[in-house]
Amino acid sequence: MGVKLDPWGHYAIEDYVKLLAEFGIHPIDEVLGSLPRKHMYFERRVIFGHRDFNLWLDALKHGEKVAVLTGFMPSGRPHLGTAMVYEELRFLQSLGAHVKIVIADAEAYIVRREERSDVVKRGVDFIAHAIAWGIDPEKAEFYYQTAMDNEYYRLIQMFSRKISMAEMEAIYGELTPGKIVASLTQAADILHLQLDKYGGYRHVVVPVGADQDPHLRLTRDLADRFEQELGLKRPSSIYHKLLRGLDGNKMSKSRPEFAIHLDDDPDLAEKKLLNALTGGRATADEQRRLGGEPWKCSIYELYVYHLVGDDSELREVYDECVTGRVLCGQCKRRAVERLKRRLIEHQERYREVLSSGIVDKVLRKPSF
Ligand code: TRP
Ligand code: SF4
Repeated sequence: MGVKLDPWGHYAIEDYVKLLAEFGIHPIDEVLGSLPRKHMYFERRVIFGHRDFNLWLDALKHGEKVAVLTGFMPSGRPHLGTAMVYEELRFLQSLGAHVKIVIADAEAYIVRREERSDVVKRGVDFIAHAIAWGIDPEKAEFYYQTAMDNEYYRLIQMFSRKISMAEMEAIYGELTPGKIVASLTQAADILHLQLDKYGGYRHVVVPVGADQDPHLRLTRDLADRFEQELGLKRPSSIYHKLLRGLDGNKMSKSRPEFAIHLDDDPDLAEKKLLNALTGGRATADEQRRLGGEPWKCSIYELYVYHLVGDDSELREVYDECVTGRVLCGQCKRRAVERLKRRLIEHQERYREVLSSGIVDKVLRKPSF
């Protein structure tokens, strides 16, 4: 097997097409025609693959109850990669899906070995930013893994009985007791809301980065094995490309200078952008002659993922780059202007969210 996906790994994924073939993730193109509304992430293949998303769209079309669930590990602060997931949730909510966001504090404690008090503190911020991004808290639920009750935790115990070590190793490679617990906990996240206690059956879609697919394969198997006993059904999933850091590597909390955080001071964000890796040539002369290489450029990636909503305008940015009509200095300054405006507006809403006290009302927090 060429690629192994590790949900706890620290690498950037190079080849998304290969992923589709090797793991049986389906190309997103086959469902684009069934989306009730367009969204730039689908149009641009930022969301590049899916499992059973067609079934979710069918359920939506037939007026059945649908939900979207995803989780955030509260290590570090929310950044533009986190915001991509907010944007997916916001869009699916606007189509009629109930939103559920889990703060993976148990996972951060177990696998990332974070201090318990730190992860609990930081979880609040992930929810405040989600609401500031436009997720309607009236049509959403937010919880910490460790704030859940018996029925959720009993799922983890039940799951452990119907999966073998060999099956787990085939999915994850090398395991530790902690990784086993974290994986089964994530399966409980994805499946629990089908239980009557948590609202009853809804078709669930899970938007995640492709590195999380092992968890979905496990969860699908578990759903099959508990269909009779608990009435669980397989979730659908959609996969987005990971926004890389401003140096072209995976965005990571250990290199904050290469990530734009949603609470970064706009002037700091400007500095980071001005230092970012581009697809520009060694000299201005050369770039005028040969054009830039936007496919290598972290600034272009920001345009695609966040800064330009209009497709023809994006085309223009691309054309100006590859023909050498616009050089990186000018192109970066345009990106800076847009980004600063976005950050200022977002941070204003974020402060309103915090002062409104809404997060305390809607977030199910652990009591210890
Ligand atoms: N493992 C995910 C991460 O590393 C977080 C997570 C926990 C999650 N539970 C989930 C994601 C359920 C999707 C669905 O970020
Ligand atoms: Fe990137 Fe813009 Fe330079 Fe092209 S011109 S390489 S898109 S910064």
